[in-house]
Amino acid sequence: MNTPSTPRQLFVTTALPYANGNFHVGHIMEYIQADIWVRYQKMMGHAVDFVCADDTHGAPIMIAAEKAGLTPQQFVANIAAGRKPYLDGFHIGFDNWHSTDGPENHELARQIYRDLRDNPEGSLIETRTILQFFDPEKNMFLPDRFIKGECPKCHSKDQYGDNCENCGAVYAPTDLINPYSALSGVRPELKSSEHFFFKLSDPRCVAFLENWTQDGKLQPEVANKIKEWFTVRHNPDGSTSEGLGDWDISRDAPYFGIEIPEAPGKYFYVWLDAPIGYLASLKNLLGQRGLNYDTYMANPELEQYHFIGKDIVTFHTLFWPATLHFSGRKTPDNIFVHGFLTVNNGEKMSKSRGTGLDPLKYLSLGMNPEWLRYYLAAKLSARNEDIDFNAEDFMLRVNSDLIGKYINIASRAAGFLSKRFAGQLGLVPEDGAALLHQLRSAHSSIAQLYEAREFAKAMRETMLLADRVNAYVDANKPWELAKQAGQEARLQGVCTVCIKAFRVLTCYLKPVLPELARQVEGFLKIAPLSFTNVSKPLPAGHIIGTYQHLMQRVETSQLEVLFEPPALMEQASAAIVNVADSKPGGEDIAPTISIDDFAKIDLRIAKIVHCEAVAGSTKLLRLTLDVGETDSAGAATTRLVFSGIASACKPEQLIGKLTVLVANLAPRKMKFGVSEGMVLAASHADEKAHPGIYLLEPFAGARPGLRVH
Ligand code: 2FM
Ligand code: ZN
Repeated sequence: MNTPSTPRQLFVTTALPYANGNFHVGHIMEYIQADIWVRYQKMMGHAVDFVCADDTHGAPIMIAAEKAGLTPQQFVANIAAGRKPYLDGFHIGFDNWHSTDGPENHELARQIYRDLRDNPEGSLIETRTILQFFDPEKNMFLPDRFIKGECPKCHSKDQYGDNCENCGAVYAPTDLINPYSALSGVRPELKSSEHFFFKLSDPRCVAFLENWTQDGKLQPEVANKIKEWFTVRHNPDGSTSEGLGDWDISRDAPYFGIEIPEAPGKYFYVWLDAPIGYLASLKNLLGQRGLNYDTYMANPELEQYHFIGKDIVTFHTLFWPATLHFSGRKTPDNIFVHGFLTVNNGEKMSKSRGTGLDPLKYLSLGMNPEWLRYYLAAKLSARNEDIDFNAEDFMLRVNSDLIGKYINIASRAAGFLSKRFAGQLGLVPEDGAALLHQLRSAHSSIAQLYEAREFAKAMRETMLLADRVNAYVDANKPWELAKQAGQEARLQGVCTVCIKAFRVLTCYLKPVLPELARQVEGFLKIAPLSFTNVSKPLPAGHIIGTYQHLMQRVETSQLEVLFEPPALMEQASAAIVNVADSKPGGEDIAPTISIDDFAKIDLRIAKIVHCEAVAGSTKLLRLTLDVGETDSAGAATTRLVFSGIASACKPEQLIGKLTVLVANLAPRKMKFGVSEGMVLAASHADEKAHPGIYLLEPFAGARPGLRVH
């Protein structure tokens, strides 16, 4: 292991989150994992620059911004403005937070591209004309996620253009049956366009990547998976081919991104410039410090590490090292891949499904961020495995381990020291010295576990040490010594052992519990703890401060509220809106309401992108509506609404039409599925005598998502 006399220079990042939504607990887990490792490295005396940034480019963000009526720049700035409460709240200590739309990234991405294109041993960029779906109404090429249609395999409706969420089939958008644009609802056309490719299939790239991914640095399970990509490739059309395929790195305007040099109207695909954002954030940080980026990167001792989730391994172990190497730059020393976080054995905390444990709600309930940091540390290993947040297990580990075993050591000893000895430490008895020796000698094995990102093992080892200290307390019973005459020195000695042990344990937990460690340092009146000073014992005669309770227990009620589903809005009636004359439409006008009452109803223009009869019902139609909404990944989403208009409308007449949706009506569970709103239609109160149901349709020019006032 490196010693502090040879400080290392580390450049560490987490994956850059898309700037189209708030963090979910999956992001927070990754940041906590990396933050623990970085704090450990800093406690070893190494120099670390730990950076992140918003991943701002790409079609989903451009479209989300347009829907919000903002420029993409304003849109991502709003998202960036919301990052701080999460990062501060969970004690995540990035040295810099930047943006992939910053000038450093524009400049670096263009330079890296030019270096790839002008590679002295032969260009690694080539252009090819490809056929792609084009939305004639929106006048743009459609990303796969914005093309929907029927799965060619299982025939599920409304599936995305790249894979089926129902049967898992992977295919090309052109394989979809009855494809439609999720943006406009129209059938997309195939159109040709010139695209730029990074020639990953070039023998130089293949040879480089085979070596880079298989030289033993990557986690074994990650390296094994990658090995398959060099032999068999599964193409979107279901066929397979040998070896690495070239990578399409361009997108056509309109696109929010970085324009390709010497290629007006062509932009870098977001995944080309996103990892370059790591370098851009670092460059920005160095600029703030008045340091030179090129000099920093030229340091042969510099180590570069990226923490990422298992869903973006291809980008980081193939595209990213190849981009760096063939543009003449340093490649990462390692990529640390983690699994997903599930909550209460539930849904995976993927990027687009961030539900279950809302980090801001957690903080707003006054729950201690260090409980979560400890719990995650107690579960994280160096392997790329999923971990589960389980509420009961969380409570048990925090209350019994962290508080019951560790915090208790201080609370059991500090009171006697301050009341009976004015806080002064005494001489360590012989049996206590042996215990302290054991604790201090664990220093190097715990440091190695941190270094190897085996945090769960580090926590286990630390808690075993805490068990030994508690056994020592139980054997020596300071509360009895306190009652016995002539046992003062022994009492002071036993409590001194406890406090010294507590100091060592605090050092071992400090990467995980930085705020608690800071409080302990204050209470013990000691210099900041580090792995380089923990073995130096506190002298006899040192005076500690007054103990104040360091950590509350987790309460069941907090967990109940944390996982309580958002309150369902009052169940509204399924009545269809009626209009007419003296007893207009056969019924009296309803009692007057205020404008505020009306404002509670959120009416939106909705486009009927799909409509079908409901098997087993003569009344209902199943409508798929575009209300201009997107998910947290920025992909367009639709709503399903059941409407009792089957007697009046044929499904095929409705497809492509606009109507009005009550968009904030509580979802209603019906026999055939959940209805996510209600479309407005007019009918007579006495439907039998006056048959007819008339769906509302706005004047031409209205667009999905517009509010009806
Ligand atoms: O998957 C994602 O959330 C991407 N925004 C990660 C980018 S990591 C890096 F390449 F920027
Ligand atoms: Zn399918």
